Amino acid sequence: MNDSDASNGTVMIEVADLGKSFSTPGGDIEVLHGVSLRIKAGERIAVVGTSGAGKTTLMHLLGGLDRPTSGDVLFEGESLFRLRGAELDAFRNSTVGFVFQFNQLLPEFSALENTMMPLLIGGARRSEALQKSTEMLHEVGLSHRLSHKPGALSGGEQQRVAIARALVCKPRLLLADEPTGNLDSNTSSEIMLLLNQLHQTHGLTMIIVTHNQALANSLDRTLRIEDGIVAGDNLN
Ligand SMILES: Nc1ncnc2c1ncn2[C@@H]1O[C@H](COP(=O)(O)OP(=O)(O)OP(=O)(O)O)[C@@H](O)[C@H]1O
Ligand SMILES: [Mg+2]
Repeated sequence: MNDSDASNGTVMIEVADLGKSFSTPGGDIEVLHGVSLRIKAGERIAVVGTSGAGKTTLMHLLGGLDRPTSGDVLFEGESLFRLRGAELDAFRNSTVGFVFQFNQLLPEFSALENTMMPLLIGGARRSEALQKSTEMLHEVGLSHRLSHKPGALSGGEQQRVAIARALVCKPRLLLADEPTGNLDSNTSSEIMLLLNQLHQTHGLTMIIVTHNQALANSLDRTLRIEDGIVAGDNLN
């Protein structure tokens, strides 16, 4: 943990001795072994580490998508894993936005419809969802691709839709798992610039898993996860 870091600025997330095991036919696999850290509101964090180190597992726990085996994640002082039903849904739908390792856009739906989905699931009226999604796609530079389905978009454009979908409910926290993992270096640089611009305009806290050194360097702090522990935590 980086104490000097946590002392100036509001702590948004406190991860306390987080452990995660998975049951498999061959026995339990312990993937995270006591991860502790604090993340301040507004911080931009790169999560790096070798394949299989536990990065995606950690991201799922931070976003309330999975439950830990031990330990806790406090979001603004409240345990995520004590939230139930509608409260947990509200956290996942409107407080946090996800960009997944594979963009997970719905292939049968247009860029606009994919972006509207979290608003409609959250109970927004269709007219409101249309307006907000159109604005959000404009912000990510896709006003000219609203009616395209994912299959008719480039990899970079698909990732822009995934980012628009993640931010359309105006979350405070963005979790992105290798958002440039499948992109060439020029397109990766564009997505990096876009994420950093959205950090500014939306006042986001961002946690980004990446193998891209330039993207990691553009953020405030790098956490290195190795074998399920925090092996490094440095300001950039
Ligand atoms: N649902 C699961 N059941 C069993 N084992 C799992 C499960 N999810 C992840 N694991 C195991 O946990 C370990 C960490 O996986 P994780 O996906 O968190 O790694 P990662 O750091 O994101 O790797 P990569 O860089 O390849 O994406 C791996 O060994 C993986 O096989
Ligand atoms: Mg992963």
